[in-house]
Amino acid sequence: MPHLKIAPFDTSLIEQKMYGDAMFLFHAVALNEKEEILGIRYKNEEFLLQLKPGEKSYLLKYDKVTRPLKVNLLKEALHEVSVRLDADVLSSNITIHHKKPPLSSRYFKKIDEFENIVYPKEKISVEVGFGSGRHLLYQAKKHPDTLFIGIEIHTPSAQQVLKQIELQNLHNIWVVNYDARLFLEMLPSNVCEQIFVHFPVPWDKKPHRRVIGKGFLDESMRVLRKGGRLELRTDSDTYFWYALETFFSVPQTKVEVQKNQLLEVTSKYEARWRKQEKDIYDVYVTCMQQSESKVHQIDFDFHGIKYVQGLEERLATDAIVFEDYFVHFERIYKVGNEGLLIRCAFGSFDRPEHKYLLLDTKGCRYFASSPVKTTVNFNAHQKIAEYLNHV
Ligand SMILES: C[S@@+](CC[C@H](N)C(=O)[O-])C[C@H]1O[C@@H](n2cnc3c(N)ncnc32)[C@H](O)[C@@H]1O
Repeated sequence: MPHLKIAPFDTSLIEQKMYGDAMFLFHAVALNEKEEILGIRYKNEEFLLQLKPGEKSYLLKYDKVTRPLKVNLLKEALHEVSVRLDADVLSSNITIHHKKPPLSSRYFKKIDEFENIVYPKEKISVEVGFGSGRHLLYQAKKHPDTLFIGIEIHTPSAQQVLKQIELQNLHNIWVVNYDARLFLEMLPSNVCEQIFVHFPVPWDKKPHRRVIGKGFLDESMRVLRKGGRLELRTDSDTYFWYALETFFSVPQTKVEVQKNQLLEVTSKYEARWRKQEKDIYDVYVTCMQQSESKVHQIDFDFHGIKYVQGLEERLATDAIVFEDYFVHFERIYKVGNEGLLIRCAFGSFDRPEHKYLLLDTKGCRYFASSPVKTTVNFNAHQKIAEYLNHV
């Protein structure tokens, strides 16, 4: 990843050197750590750059949380900042390659795009944890009138399937690289034909990490249209019985079970189990009723919260843990005398959000973008707001 090594300089002069510069937003200095941060706006993107002092040089590099997707933009910005700071560059790995960045396909959708997305097809099906994508690609080819949304947490698998979509010239697949348990919340009610969950990781030792759970089931029933189906296929006896118990906990359901049924397409994973003559179970849960439409009433505003003197000394440094989520103020930076930048982690234990909060005497906001609009993030946000108001 792009970085520059520059000769040590007096960082208290940063404001002076970047004064009046459209790309410079603020300079933040970590409390208790040797690290400084520059808030940058470059070509309409806001992000942070880190400045880490070493023995004989400073490292100027990108910040993981706010990193823009376009690596070339980041490289240009690093170069620009070094020029404006008049820095003595000792070494650099910045060469601009004009190759396509990974996950740049138009079929790749970021989770937050779903807040205002337009669906190109009336029929929608979802596949959770598509792995090699064999089943997803097969379904999309077979049903060109349906949009298939594939959700995969493992980035290389998502990249592989994006390549296949281009190679096979398919236009009805979207790939989302996210946790399926949180993704369904982003979909409207009553829109899905099918939700496929094929060979989910059984997580025998950590059952709380399983995709199928009460929350996932409720959300599946909300997004499925009446008559639509959630389809689980598994080779794990434990997962099969666990899923049945979960499915039967819903008051009104139609559950069907099949054993060792052959499908038209077999994934690599399934082929392995078949060779070992393992039993394979299919469980179909049909949605029996129309759900109410979902109203997104989530806003990440801080409603008048501002920086007050000494706030940095009163903030909890340990994670604050609630039943389904947590809030952790991981690192605190001073921005001048009357402002703070706080790096926080919060939300679900499995897929936490990492964000910066920027506070001054006028207000408070997430820098550079708001969290994904999931209920768990919203609950955590409300706790942060409540906490900042009282601390
Ligand atoms: C055992 S593999 C099965 C892959 C594929 N469905 C098949 O039948 O070959 C499970 C897949 O689910 C993905 N996965 C696990 N947890 C997930 C989650 N919470 N959200 C999305 N994908 C997940 C894994 O990365 C992995 O690719």
